[in-house]
Amino acid sequence: MAQVIISAQHLSHKIKRDHQDVTLLRSINVDILQGEQVAITGRSGSGKSTLLGILATLDQASEGELWVCGEAAHALNEEQRAGLRQKTIGFVFQSFQLLPHLTALENVMLPLRLKAHFNYTQAEAKAIQLLDQVGLLKQKDQTPKVLSGGEQQRVAIARALVTSPQIIFADEPTGNLDEHTAKDIEKLLFDLNKDLGVTLVLVTHHLELAKRCQKHYVLHEGELKPFQREVFA
Ligand SMILES: Nc1ncnc2c1ncn2[C@@H]1O[C@H](COP(=O)(O)OP(=O)(O)OP(=O)(O)O)[C@@H](O)[C@H]1O
Ligand SMILES: [Mg+2]
Repeated sequence: MAQVIISAQHLSHKIKRDHQDVTLLRSINVDILQGEQVAITGRSGSGKSTLLGILATLDQASEGELWVCGEAAHALNEEQRAGLRQKTIGFVFQSFQLLPHLTALENVMLPLRLKAHFNYTQAEAKAIQLLDQVGLLKQKDQTPKVLSGGEQQRVAIARALVTSPQIIFADEPTGNLDEHTAKDIEKLLFDLNKDLGVTLVLVTHHLELAKRCQKHYVLHEGELKPFQREVFA
């Protein structure tokens, strides 16, 4: 029986809009199991990125509990959450978010350079291994501006994986890519899920991609529900 790796219990989140409190997320309950592929879809503005950021401990919900790898993330301060994140979570953004003045290799090494027990040589070796895994070893000394969008996203995926996280969160990871390149990146994410057993939680507008995942939730009017074809067809 797979272990629960992320557990959200009664997560609610309010934001300020025109000086008014607006409830964006309403009492969300979800368990994500180790090694699972989970997709979250929903209309633009429904709160998908906000929810993903909260589940990944980048942001904190207004109310409720969030358990990450058995730790009570809701009870941690920002520094403690950063520590938990470093140990357990990798994040991939739609816009790649690579540092422009660093090479692909240096970008991938960066999370390890922040870890005290990794020296330069160890970080370099691990980053090279990951760049090889995402098929980008030849471009390791290039800076992002000379890489294509798909190549930049591969670097970003290698960077997310370099700390050996148990969970990868990806917010529209193929949103800025052409159809063909998007398919390549999708395949890479699913292969990594299969080969490394890393849990995959992704937000996407592509129903086809969402349907390939073992679980598919829809965020609608603040509530997260299992996708039901008849409701959204
Ligand atoms: N910190 C914040 N303060 C105020 N408003 C916010 C904040 N974070 C998000 N919002 C608002 O909450 C709503 C949901 O935003 P979010 O980015 O989570 O939506 P989304 O479902 O990811 O949309 P998209 O599909 O377009 O990426 C938006 O109206 C956004 O402007
Ligand atoms: Mg979004």
